[in-house]
Amino acid sequence: MIKDGFRIADSADYAGTEAALKGWVSHIRSSGSLFFIEVRDGTGFIQAVVVKSEVSEQTFEICSKLTIESSLIVRGMIREDSRAPGGFEMSVHDIEPVNIPEEEYPISKKAHGIDFLMEHRHLWVRSRRQLAILRVRSELIRISRAYFHDNGYVLIDTPILTGSIGESSGSLFETEYFDFGNAFLAQTGQLYLEAAASAFGKVFCLGPTFRAEKSKTRRHLTEFWMLEAEVAFYDSDRNMELQEDMVSYLVRNIIESCERELGYLERDLDALQKIIPPFPRISYGEAIELLKKKDFRVRWGDDIGGDEETALSQSFEKPVFIYNYPMEIKAFYMKPDPRDSRIVLCNDLLAPEGYGEIIGGSQRNDDYDSLLARINEEGLNSDLYRWYLDIRRYGSVPHSGFGLGIERLLAWICRLPHVREAIPFPRLINRLYP
Ligand code: 4AD
Ligand code: MG
Repeated sequence: MIKDGFRIADSADYAGTEAALKGWVSHIRSSGSLFFIEVRDGTGFIQAVVVKSEVSEQTFEICSKLTIESSLIVRGMIREDSRAPGGFEMSVHDIEPVNIPEEEYPISKKAHGIDFLMEHRHLWVRSRRQLAILRVRSELIRISRAYFHDNGYVLIDTPILTGSIGESSGSLFETEYFDFGNAFLAQTGQLYLEAAASAFGKVFCLGPTFRAEKSKTRRHLTEFWMLEAEVAFYDSDRNMELQEDMVSYLVRNIIESCERELGYLERDLDALQKIIPPFPRISYGEAIELLKKKDFRVRWGDDIGGDEETALSQSFEKPVFIYNYPMEIKAFYMKPDPRDSRIVLCNDLLAPEGYGEIIGGSQRNDDYDSLLARINEEGLNSDLYRWYLDIRRYGSVPHSGFGLGIERLLAWICRLPHVREAIPFPRLINRLYP
């Protein structure tokens, strides 16, 4: 009896024994009395070798019918072989086809355009490069959660359907909501995390967030995953220390746990190994001066756009903090700088190698009156923010937090040209299928 549950990644434990390999054909070639079938099972790839004289006539016949992405169960002996790509091969005894496609698999070895691949995303996820990227994503999320759990944070799941908005009203998805008129899909979990930070001190969340941004850039999705943290009694400086500690931890651990995937993606690990605290910090004012020197036509008060971000992030080997932006261009909840009321205590963190913003963070306005004034100035309905203002009425404390875009971080770590490859099924302004 062959034990069930073999997976390619566990080949070493099975060397010299019989196994039932369940998977899909990724490549097949024959040479007369032999078939070489490369099989994928999600944990890796292995070559299954069929020798005509060692199998039944029926099994050998099946081999000539197998096509790319046929699903099958292959039984045979796992053998160590130093010449094999993964170090192991299977000598086949028997093949049980599960499904042999009637039509040719749409994705072949030849180069396909990005639109074609995006249209076939449901099949594209089976390809080696996508397998590598999505496995790094899975690990990144596991490691992110571990970082917060191991450092005394409590997970707070914040709502997706919300009444009060957290970021600019220009990028809201609305949906009908019974007697309340409209609800909005969450742009951030932050406001709710702030309430929870006054309950637990240190909290985090990780969930989908939505932005109806009309941006068609390599950095924008309409649905993306955000990792957010909020800490009571942290000021903006301490908040930046937390961010550099977390980002360094994530990068260090991903290099270790995804060596194979990053190797497949040909990621330059030297660049990632430099990601250790402290990260450089420059003020918004200094960033504007730096951009002027690089011939950008920018003035104090302008937002730092995509091209400017790229240029700034190419100037540093490590992620760089840009802190204390003009109030005008940042969200209503940020705390004004007590030394200069034109600016707010906040930061963006730009990833190097041209990747740009991966984190937005700030110290929050903890003063009832000035926060209410800002809510009114923004034209928001203060009635919907009663609960948020309550946090400032009952035991208000200085507090800070940040949000990190998982896809942007992953795009940088894997050095992807676009965030669309950094999420299993991307949602873009021009894509809702598949
Ligand atoms: O800078 P943002 O808008 O900050 C917030 O939402 C804060 N409320 C977070 C907080 O303080 N708790 O977004 C945070 C991060 C960005 O730095 C970026 O990495 C990512 O979310 N992000 C996007 N990623 C992909 N597509 C988009 N359209 C994104 N918008 C923001
Ligand atoms: Mg931002």
